[in-house]
Amino acid sequence: MTSFENMQITPPTIITIFGATGDLSTQKLLPSLFDLFQKRYLPKKFKIVGFSRQEISNKDYREYAKKAIMAKKTSFSEEDLVEFLSHISYAQGFFDKIESYLELLETLKIKEDEIGQCTNKLFYLAVPPVYYKNIFEHLAQSELMKPCSNEAGWTRILVEKPFGNNITTAQELDAILGKLFKEEQVFRIDHYLAKEVLQDILMFRFSNLIFEPLWSKHFIERVELSLFETRGVEGRGAFFDETGALRDVGQNHLLQMLAFVATEDPVELDAQHVRAERARVLKALRPITEETVCETVVRGQYDGYLEVPNIASGSQTETYFKIKAFIDNERWNGVPFYLESGKALTENKAEIKVYFKKTESCLCISEEKSPRQNVLTFRIQPDEGTSVLFWAKKPGLSLEIEPRELSFSYKGSPEVKPLADAYEKVLFDGILGDQMLFTSTEEVSATWHFITPILDLWRDTPLHRYKKGSAGPEIVL
Ligand code: BG6
Repeated sequence: MTSFENMQITPPTIITIFGATGDLSTQKLLPSLFDLFQKRYLPKKFKIVGFSRQEISNKDYREYAKKAIMAKKTSFSEEDLVEFLSHISYAQGFFDKIESYLELLETLKIKEDEIGQCTNKLFYLAVPPVYYKNIFEHLAQSELMKPCSNEAGWTRILVEKPFGNNITTAQELDAILGKLFKEEQVFRIDHYLAKEVLQDILMFRFSNLIFEPLWSKHFIERVELSLFETRGVEGRGAFFDETGALRDVGQNHLLQMLAFVATEDPVELDAQHVRAERARVLKALRPITEETVCETVVRGQYDGYLEVPNIASGSQTETYFKIKAFIDNERWNGVPFYLESGKALTENKAEIKVYFKKTESCLCISEEKSPRQNVLTFRIQPDEGTSVLFWAKKPGLSLEIEPRELSFSYKGSPEVKPLADAYEKVLFDGILGDQMLFTSTEEVSATWHFITPILDLWRDTPLHRYKKGSAGPEIVL
C-alpha cells in the first residue's frame, strides 16, 4: 500500500500547534498543512488546534491562518480554503502552566466528541527551545499524551531543532523525553532531511552502478557541503545571538547532508536501518581538538551584525563558519569534508559538491589548462537537481579538452510537479509515523559530540569580519 493510501485510512487526527502565531507556524506549517489538504494528503477527518499565549478568538485565528496561507500561495481553490479553515480552531494557554494543558485536554475531548470517535493526537512544538522541558513535562502530566488505548489513538510530539544547545543539554532533554515517552512517539525535526534532493542522494547513490564503486577515499578527493544565505538575521536577533550559525545549521542541516552523502548502504529503506547508518557515520567524525582547531575551523561575523536589533553589545556570535572535517572509517579516511555556511553572503544556495580525483595521466595538450577533475553536484536549492561535470574534446581541429555538464533539474522536467515544501513532508511523515527522515537520539548525541568541542574551543579562535554580500572571510583551510 502506498503512503498516500495509508493516509486515506488514517483514523481521525488532531494536530495541535504550540506557538500557533509564531514565525514557523505562519510561514511554513499553516501553508504546508493547506497544501497537504489540497492534495488530499491529510486524514479524511482531522482538526487543527492553534495553541499559544495570545488571546485570539477561533474566528480571528482562522482569519490569521487564511492570511498566512494567502501570503504563500498564488493559485488555490477558494472552496478548498474555506473548507480547510473550518477544521481550524484556537486554544489560548501558557506553556509553563499546567492549568492551560488541562484546559487543552478538555478542548481536545470536545473535538473528539464532535468527531464521534477516539482520535490520534499530534503535538507540534513550534516554540523556542527554552520551553521544551516545560512542555514535555506538562504534556505528560496532563495526560494529553495518553493514547485512548493500547490499540487506538496514537499520540506523538514533533520537536523542532535546535534540540539542546550542547551535548549536556541535549542529553538532558533526551533523558526527560526517554522517561516520559516512547522513542516511537518522538519526532525530532531537521527539515533538511525532508528536502527532495537530500532524500534523492540515497536513491542516486544506491540505485546507480556508475557512481557507487567510486564512492570512497580511493576516487574522491574532497566533498564540499554548503548552505549560503543572502539575508542577515534581522527579525531573529535575540534567538540568533544566543544560538550562532554553528548551532543553528551546522549541528543539524549540514551534518545531516554529510550523513547522507557519506553513509554506508542501509540495505533496507526504513527508519531503523537508515537512521542507524546515519548515526554510524556521524559517530565516526574525527573530534576537533585544541591542536587542530586553528587549521580546521574558521568563524566569521558580517559587518553590521552588531547593529541588528536585540544583538548583545560587542557580541562574538558567529554568522559564518567553515569546518574541515574528517570521517575516520575505512571508506573515508583522509578525505576532507568542508562544511560551510553563512548569513549575508553573495547568494542563496545549498549544495553538495563531490570532487573526484584526477585521472593519473592526461591525454591533453596542457596539464594546467585541463584540470580533468569530475565534479558531481547535488543542488539542494535553488534549481533542485543533480549535475556531473566531465571533460570532452573541444570541437575543432585542435586536441584540447574542455569541461561539459550532464545536468538534471526538477524544474526543467515537464512531468515533475512543483516540489513540495520540506515541511509538507515533515507533517506527512509525522502523521504516518515514519521516522526515517527524523533524527534519532543517537544522531543527536553524535552531532553534539562533534560540535560541542568546537563551540568550547573557538572562544580562543579569531572571529573574522566579512562584508555583507561577500563570500565570507577569505581564509583557506
Ligand atoms: C533554519 C535556520 O533551521 O534553516 C535558519 O534556523 C535558516 O537560520 C533555515 O535560514 C534555512 O532553511 P531553508 O529551508 O530556508 O534553506
